[in-house]
Amino acid sequence: MADAWWKQSVVYQIYPRSFKDSNGDGIGDLNGITEKLDYLKELGIDVIWLSPVYESPNDDNGYDISNYRGIMKEFGTMEDYDRMLSAAHERGIKIVMDLVVNHTSDEHPWFVESRKSEDNPYRDYYIWREGKDGKEPNNWESCFSGPAWEYDKETDMYYLHLFSKKQPDLNWDNPKVRDEVFDMMDWWCKKGIDGFRMDVISMISKVPGLPDGELNEKGYGDFGPYVCNGPHVHEYLQEMNRRVLSKYDLLTVGECSGVTVEEAKKYANNAGTELSMVFQFEHMDLDGGESMKWCDRKINLVELKETLSKWQEELYQKAWNSLYWCNHDQPRIVSRLGNPSEEYREVSAKMLGTCLHMMQGTPYIYQGEELGMTNVPFEKLEDFRDIESIHAYEEFVGKGLIQPEDMMYYLRYKSRDNARTPMQWDDSENAGFTTGNPWIMVNPNYREINAKEQLSREDSVFHYYQKLIRLRKEYPVIVQGRYSLLLPEDERLYVYQRALDGQILLVICNFTDREVSYKVPEELKGREKKVLISNYSRETADDSVALKAYEAVVLLYE
Ligand code: GLC
Ligand code: CA
Repeated sequence: MADAWWKQSVVYQIYPRSFKDSNGDGIGDLNGITEKLDYLKELGIDVIWLSPVYESPNDDNGYDISNYRGIMKEFGTMEDYDRMLSAAHERGIKIVMDLVVNHTSDEHPWFVESRKSEDNPYRDYYIWREGKDGKEPNNWESCFSGPAWEYDKETDMYYLHLFSKKQPDLNWDNPKVRDEVFDMMDWWCKKGIDGFRMDVISMISKVPGLPDGELNEKGYGDFGPYVCNGPHVHEYLQEMNRRVLSKYDLLTVGECSGVTVEEAKKYANNAGTELSMVFQFEHMDLDGGESMKWCDRKINLVELKETLSKWQEELYQKAWNSLYWCNHDQPRIVSRLGNPSEEYREVSAKMLGTCLHMMQGTPYIYQGEELGMTNVPFEKLEDFRDIESIHAYEEFVGKGLIQPEDMMYYLRYKSRDNARTPMQWDDSENAGFTTGNPWIMVNPNYREINAKEQLSREDSVFHYYQKLIRLRKEYPVIVQGRYSLLLPEDERLYVYQRALDGQILLVICNFTDREVSYKVPEELKGREKKVLISNYSRETADDSVALKAYEAVVLLYE
């Protein structure tokens, strides 16, 4: 486990719908991905995590699966998939599939059967309950607004859906469900895939009795304490590990809403009895507010350092971290923690990349992050496609909890659609993503921000990310070194060290648009060092450094 390949790897996430359209229907597809593998090879990544490509009615863009062994028609065929898989493997790139098994689509044949009658053999594949006084069985709110229960008149009962009503939750307490899921996983492993990213896997085991949750401003209850890291989750993952994962050499990463470091030590334990690593949310939740994420609060640097440092320190030699700023559920990081202005966009994107990539763990890059892609100037509700954003608008505005203009502003800042507009390949129409009509608007800044321009320019964000990836492969201290935080209370700088066998890596990042001076720690003064990477082409650094706006510099003391 100490030198597992996934500890040395950098992962690139593809959201297929928005990556590259090969046939002009406005929707990205598998052949589009195959076309762009050389681009990813050039970037230097080792693994692709593919957001879902399975058959789906697309209520939640593929996170509602109606056939786990079939490819979504819009994305191509199983032959296209196989071609992509072998083309990736030929280039030394591994493929990790998204595994969405907390729920299926309501159009999955299991659910179609399940809702037919109480004695249907598939009934217990899902979570059905009687109503309470003519209302839902409990007060839980779904993640996409409204009750987490849907009434079904066929049997006069309700089914649980923690997400949309087209995403009924599977009943993991039923051993048949586990058999089905494990068989299906085994089938994909036999095809030669290299791992799974497990969607909301921390939510598969619910507390029996499904008790009411604490009420929020909208009058719904919070299911969190009864769903996240539930009573049997570790048992089920250990079973999955014994029956499937342990037979192959895989990268597994669990998306674990509500995970704490204590829980993560179990999920991602070094003995390898569950998963390789988890995605935690504590650093991404720092700008949340009362109305969930719908506010314009900024992430506070001192809190960010405290949170990330806790994960770095507490998992050290006990479990493995994942490192991310971005994914298909998060707004763009330059717009959130950096500075998207023309003057500072590139340096701040590079600074954020440095800050993350020099930490311990497996880094994840989300498509376009390597170009410093930004949030999108959506103008009106109709510009959005994401079910979460649209429902949240209806709910908060409809109930008079947030004014329409404010909600639009929050959506522009936080909506998942910020990550989902087409990848910006070049400055031709629609950013070279499609020759047709894109399924969601293209960010108008594609004429300035695009891959073609960045590939041609040596000091681009792309080439900077390429170097960050290369450094990780050249310097074991980046993979293995012990992390320690310096200046925990400083509100402008994020400074940390990594140490391995007498080598020290000093990572200095200025999170502000002002010049900030910094003195290296006493014990490093006067010591021989070199600059490993810098976003201002700094070649040397004194013991006292005047950092420019958003400057990042990494020093290696041998
Ligand atoms: C995860 C996915 C998200 C999806 C949800 C329901 O959080 O990342 O995109 O909407 O699960 O499957
Ligand atoms: Ca297409």
